[in-house]
Amino acid sequence: MIHVNEPLLGQRDLEYVAECVRTGWVSSAGKFIEEFEEKWATYCCRRFGVAVSNGTVALQVAASSLGLKPGDEVIMPSFTIISCALAAIYNDAVPVLVDCDPQTWCMDVQQIKEKITARTRAIMPVHIYGHPVDMDPVLDLAEKHNLAIIEDAAEVHGAEYLSKRGTSQSVWRRCGSFGTLSCFSFYANKLITTGEGGMILTDDPNLAEKARNLRNLCFQAKRRFYHDELGFNFRLTNMQAALGVAQLERIEDIIARKRWMGREYSRQLAGVSGLQLPVEEQWARSVYWMYGVVLSETSGMDANAFAEELKKRGVETRPFFLGLHEQPVFHKRELFLRERYPVAERISRQGLYLPSGLALTEEQLNKVCQAVHEVLS
Ligand SMILES: Cc1ncc(COP(=O)(O)O)c(C=O)c1O
Repeated sequence: MIHVNEPLLGQRDLEYVAECVRTGWVSSAGKFIEEFEEKWATYCCRRFGVAVSNGTVALQVAASSLGLKPGDEVIMPSFTIISCALAAIYNDAVPVLVDCDPQTWCMDVQQIKEKITARTRAIMPVHIYGHPVDMDPVLDLAEKHNLAIIEDAAEVHGAEYLSKRGTSQSVWRRCGSFGTLSCFSFYANKLITTGEGGMILTDDPNLAEKARNLRNLCFQAKRRFYHDELGFNFRLTNMQAALGVAQLERIEDIIARKRWMGREYSRQLAGVSGLQLPVEEQWARSVYWMYGVVLSETSGMDANAFAEELKKRGVETRPFFLGLHEQPVFHKRELFLRERYPVAERISRQGLYLPSGLALTEEQLNKVCQAVHEVLS
């Protein structure tokens, strides 16, 4: 079976983690935490980094740092992971949805405007499967309506967006550099992994301080074990951060490998009838986190049937997200009832992603493409 993701870990990863074990710095104190925070923030052109235990809590802490009030609204795409909605809900705020763009599968930025109300406090753009959201219109709206941006960059380490905003010349900006607070996941299938892990980036010292406190039980500086706010234990360990520092040293190779994979899949699958491949808009440098494909409805097959056929040929796949508006857990809470987002609905049924892990070999990629050709020919 060719697995959908296998991470590629190396000697340097082992060395840095071993150093933690050897020196006894295995918990959430130790030199690698700050080093990882500083280096990741610098890589993404931000001032502050706050490492946390995973991407889900990064979003939650980011939303919490903004001090959302009950009933405040956060606009986000339906086509995303549940973590995005949870970040709002755990802060007593309300997730408000928009559909996604049929080409990039990222939020349709043209739909944001009509969802802005007097209660809107933030927009949460989520870059999907390695491709950036069209950020300029999001930034314009946020500025115009005085809204915060919680950027979810979990899936786009190192991806770039060509911004035409505020300058006479267009500038390539890295994903993670746009949010009032920007969030990352370092789960094992991400470009940079710490096993489990996440980070919040910001340029605002007060928000950074707030996030740091929330991450660590809101211990107050004046006296140990004194708390005047509710916090969480969402700390990352030094061992996890060590893995992050080691991986960051080779991020350019990692991105190059992912871009090779994206190009090679697209080359070999171009022209397969009934199969939509990922795009790379001219304003985007995608990192092809996961190579997604969408079957046309006229192919007579949905993603489940396609996945079964590929599995028979030794190829593991994953289905696309199911839109937030179709999640039973939210219907039980009377959220999104009767809301429709046709693009999200179609791609969630017709889309899946192919093996895209860093350990995927050229031979395996060729076999995957051969299997796709076989099933769809
Ligand atoms: C877009 C997005 N946001 C958030 C997360 C949550 O990250 P984690 O799994 O580290 O909690 C993920 C996970 O893959 C994701 O894809």
